[in-house]
Amino acid sequence: MRLLITAGPTREPIDPVRYISNRSSGKMGYAIAEAALAEAHEIILISGPVNLEPPGNAKVISVSTSDEMFEAVHRYADECDICVLCAAVADYKAANVSSTKIKKRGAKFSLGLIPTRDILDSLGHQQDRQFVLVGFAAETDHVEENAAKKLRAKNCDIIVANDVSGADSGMESDVNEVIIFFRNGEKKEISRAPKKNIARELVKIFLDFATKTFDKKNVMIN
Ligand code: CTP
Repeated sequence: MRLLITAGPTREPIDPVRYISNRSSGKMGYAIAEAALAEAHEIILISGPVNLEPPGNAKVISVSTSDEMFEAVHRYADECDICVLCAAVADYKAANVSSTKIKKRGAKFSLGLIPTRDILDSLGHQQDRQFVLVGFAAETDHVEENAAKKLRAKNCDIIVANDVSGADSGMESDVNEVIIFFRNGEKKEISRAPKKNIARELVKIFLDFATKTFDKKNVMIN
């Protein structure tokens, strides 16, 4: 199968020397790409700025801003069987990007922000979507409730929820633990393990779900 995977943070420029970003390392997305490549699947990895070696044999598209990630995802999504949106896309960007370095001012300074486009939501509501859509939910509280809400609101097939409240799992860490929510209300847990092991389990789950979904569609057509 062909998988599109997004990974890492985005950077939203403020001026030529500053940007808004987050602590995402890209490790989870890259581990999913590696795990799928090991099973001989085809990978398009759309990556924000990270300090990781690109996985061999993947088609890697490097982006920086949420807008660049949005465009790249929409360019390739329809050619893929599964889209896994693992990236920590910034929710806001500067309303106006200054072309010159912003100078220090008085004691208070406020920056005007506007929302970025939600890539997962845009794919979830795409008419005639043929690919399986997987989102991630990074939560610090009410993990299950918030993740289940995201699954419905963004209309995806699967949401992988992880608790990013502690320093010892989730963002930047090499380990993680996740709860996977399916559209039909089913739920699976993968307990604390290195991200590489979690990635292998996740890839199995995504492929199994996609195979069943495509088989069902074929039966309906025939
Ligand atoms: N996402 C996206 N585009 C955005 C923001 C998020 O595609 N502009 C995707 C992420 O890649 C992830 C999912 O939406 O698959 C959930 O991201 P998360 O940061 O957990 O939640 P948000 O939707 O940003 O909501 P909140 O920050 O309020 O929790």
